[in-house]
Amino acid sequence: MEVVIRRDAADVAAFVADIIERLISSSPAAVLGLATGSSPLGVYGELVRRHRSGALSFGRVSAFLLDEYIGLPPGHPATYRAFIEQHFSGLVDIPPDSVHVPNGAAADVDAACADYEAQIRAAGGVDLQLLGIGGDGHVGFNEPTSSLASRTRVKTLTSETRYDNARFFSAIDEVPHHVVTQGIGTILEARHLVLIAVGAAKAEPIARAVEGPLTSMCPASAIQLHPHATVVVDEAAATELTLIDYYRAAFAAKPSWQFP
Ligand code: F6R
Repeated sequence: MEVVIRRDAADVAAFVADIIERLISSSPAAVLGLATGSSPLGVYGELVRRHRSGALSFGRVSAFLLDEYIGLPPGHPATYRAFIEQHFSGLVDIPPDSVHVPNGAAADVDAACADYEAQIRAAGGVDLQLLGIGGDGHVGFNEPTSSLASRTRVKTLTSETRYDNARFFSAIDEVPHHVVTQGIGTILEARHLVLIAVGAAKAEPIARAVEGPLTSMCPASAIQLHPHATVVVDEAAATELTLIDYYRAAFAAKPSWQFP
């Protein structure tokens, strides 16, 4: 695992956008795994800016979202499909049919979950998976005690996560209790994981994920099992890391050929 500490959210966004731009330059038909929520917003903004400047095309890219709420009507502004269209896919040249979202409105959700896994496999797997981290250590919507071998399925949100996400709704009562999320096992099959965290509220969960024990009590700690995981944090999110000096030194001494 590599831990990269950047000064602020803008530097985090530029660094991660560089990783994605390099991937698409070498693999124009790359498969991106996309997270929603606040953490990747700066990255999406930077990618849109690069696209508009003519430097970056997503014309052959396909994308799979991590998760979706159950129980929201299609088109509801808080659905993750609406979120990704608003902040990324609707602003670049990625074909709408190439953006896949778990179907939280399916009559048979279990069948839709199995189908989602099949779609990821048929696309050849995810090349680069963007991740955020929840205050309780979740990735995707794999809440604490999620199986580290889990696949795409229905999960129940913790009250902490519902509270955290209430800012996207007009009232906490509107936040669904249930979601469809890629499992930890699904996420770990992506070829490169890029976990983003910005702000002081993420310092404790990031330290647990990066340096804590591997445990389903902190599902994000499963990234320790991945052979190619890059954790990109700002200074505020790095404050609880015990080996912070080592991460800085390793990054400063990194050979130029070893770009993530
Ligand atoms: C969203 C997702 C979640 C978020 C996490 C952090 O697709 O999978 O794991 O990444 O809840 O949310 P923010 O970034 O809003 O703090």
